[in-house]
Amino acid sequence: MNMPQLGLGTWKSEPGEVGEAVKTALRLGYRHIDCAAVYGNEAEIGVALEEAFADGGIARADVWVTSKLWNTSHAPDDVRPALMQTLSDLRLDYLDLYLMHWPVVLKKDAAMPLSAADFIALDKLPVADTWHAMEPLVAEGLCRQIGVSNFSVLKLEALLGAAKIPPAANQIEMHPYLQQPAMLEFCAAHNVHLTAYAPLGSGDLSLLADATVVAISERHGCTPAQVLIRWAMQRGTSVIPKSCNPERIAQNLSAADVVLSDDDMRELAALDRAQRFIDGNFWVHEGGPYTLANLWD
Ligand code: A2P
Repeated sequence: MNMPQLGLGTWKSEPGEVGEAVKTALRLGYRHIDCAAVYGNEAEIGVALEEAFADGGIARADVWVTSKLWNTSHAPDDVRPALMQTLSDLRLDYLDLYLMHWPVVLKKDAAMPLSAADFIALDKLPVADTWHAMEPLVAEGLCRQIGVSNFSVLKLEALLGAAKIPPAANQIEMHPYLQQPAMLEFCAAHNVHLTAYAPLGSGDLSLLADATVVAISERHGCTPAQVLIRWAMQRGTSVIPKSCNPERIAQNLSAADVVLSDDDMRELAALDRAQRFIDGNFWVHEGGPYTLANLWD
């Protein structure tokens, strides 16, 4: 997969800010923007992309754009219209990568669930059915590659068995507190690219303040965020730190210039505590089909 390893995340990037963030990122040299319909900001990102391409210097083909199918559009007939809406919002005629956002199905009018009645169980609408509706979008030229997000090894394995086009990528939460060695090994063996989201802890400051991360950053004369981003890159994953702040957008990009030693990587490896900052508890409702156990297997 020729995805640029470092991308800009846009989850929780506020409307009114995200367009500037995307333009700043592209100006600084980012060539990978990670989006999703549910972030509610694709229309503003679309305007920014259009302006960046019109200003010259950056061509559409030079930028990798990912977006994601929301849980309310898993019914096979809803998949193509959802992608068309995202393309229209982003003002693009194709995506580089389209991901199934979660292995979770919501009723069409329940963008965020209020009760168990808003969910559809995976045995009623299996991810393989949704996947089979995503596959033809590649031949149609609407997305170059398709993949998934928030999938466990077990769910990836099942999908690989059912897919005509194997998932090119799995985008999951990954950082030194959630290293998932078995996932890394499985994806390497099955040629599934991994993208690490929430590499900085998604707003929780414990990772950025971790004593080991801080000590390593001091040794390198860089910031804790740069250590975390570079750690993901040295494990061979791509990584999509979110920022709307121009200095931090620049700082995160220069993480690519830091080189962590084997000793640094060993110290960071020892931090694993299988801790999720985004544990999916918003999909767990009393009497509903999803539990944390069956979500992450
Ligand atoms: P901001 O947008 O104000 O820069 P993640 O990518 O793990 O989801 O983390 C995003 C969070 O980390 C946001 O709150 C973002 O805030 C903050 N952040 C982004 N880059 C840095 C950085 N270099 N140093 C400290 N915090 C950062």
